[in-house]
Amino acid sequence: MNQVYFDHNATTPLDDAVLDAMLPYLRSEFGNASSRHSFGARARRAVERAREQVAEAVGAEASQVVFVSGGTEANNLFVKGTGESLKPSQIVVSPVEHPCVAKPAQELARRGWKLRKLKVEALGRVEAADLELALSEPTGIVSVMLANNETGVIQDVACVAQAARSRGAWVHSDAVQALGKISVDFSALDVHALTVSAHKIYGPKGAAALVLDKRIELKPLLSGGGHEKGMRSGTENVPAIVGFGVACELARLRLDKLGAHLQALRGRFERGVRSYGGVIFGDGAERLPNTSYVGFRGIDGDALVIELDKLGYAVASGSACSSLKSGASDVLLAMGVEPELAQSAVRVSLGKDNTVEQVQELLAALEAALARLEKLSAVTI
Ligand SMILES: Cc1ncc(COP(=O)(O)O)c(C=O)c1O
Repeated sequence: MNQVYFDHNATTPLDDAVLDAMLPYLRSEFGNASSRHSFGARARRAVERAREQVAEAVGAEASQVVFVSGGTEANNLFVKGTGESLKPSQIVVSPVEHPCVAKPAQELARRGWKLRKLKVEALGRVEAADLELALSEPTGIVSVMLANNETGVIQDVACVAQAARSRGAWVHSDAVQALGKISVDFSALDVHALTVSAHKIYGPKGAAALVLDKRIELKPLLSGGGHEKGMRSGTENVPAIVGFGVACELARLRLDKLGAHLQALRGRFERGVRSYGGVIFGDGAERLPNTSYVGFRGIDGDALVIELDKLGYAVASGSACSSLKSGASDVLLAMGVEPELAQSAVRVSLGKDNTVEQVQELLAALEAALARLEKLSAVTI
């Protein structure tokens, strides 16, 4: 049976053009980018070209791009790195952040920082009045993601940044899910730091970037040879960085067309979901064009994912990065969704190669899976 993939917020397949660009650096061009000889020089040139491609995709300068191993590392680097270099005060985060922001923030709280989680309204957006209230206390760090990995809901990060900057705080945004799906512009967002990751945009796993305002001082997580201007020691993963650069270029070039394609597919999917009595979380808020997070009363989300997988469709229940954790999604609970409905949540995240036919087939499979689970729960009761 052919499996159809609808879990692009978890990860994406490698683009053929990305793989082609990477292959020479996995074969003959294996040099260490720090070496003085020609092998090293060619690897260095490839890394610097990728730095320009990443910078161009996010409206930043190449000198602001720090390559790291993943979005998780970039977020840890910002939160812990600034937490170490600033005098402890308040760190403000949204309650819907990915665990790789939420947990480092908790670690700062154990080291003398005051952790303040903002409130979000029912559609998942940060409450502006609560942000103002939070910022009335001395604040060193603010981190609010650009788009949520579960709901796809987009935050007004420029507005958060403006308010936080005026109080002297350093502002970061996790744009891992936003890149390649909506326009991401470091200077327009006016944040001090931004996280992006290759494997969410048809690039390889193991490459990401923290885009950083040069005025920000942060303590590196790793000590060593002083790579990446001392921000991230360790021999560069040249093939992955090259792939990340090409993936960024492709994402930039295809953004408008892809956005329209994804939006059309999602509209079709959600019309079907509504006709089956489903709830769409974050519906009415500005969302990523590819993301649909839905729930069906009385149905267990994990059971629905397994049923759909048996029928040949890969979807997710909640964040894939925390899929080993059971229980209702923290994101939905923060939005005030009742736990029983939150427990039913299933995420469909579309990608560039999904087609109208595949979405139609997914809807038919969903209808069959719902009917089967309803029948099973009637028998159990
Ligand atoms: C919003 C968000 N931030 C950060 C990450 C972590 O990125 P990486 O998998 O590159 O470590 C993810 C991954 O799912 C994510 O969705």
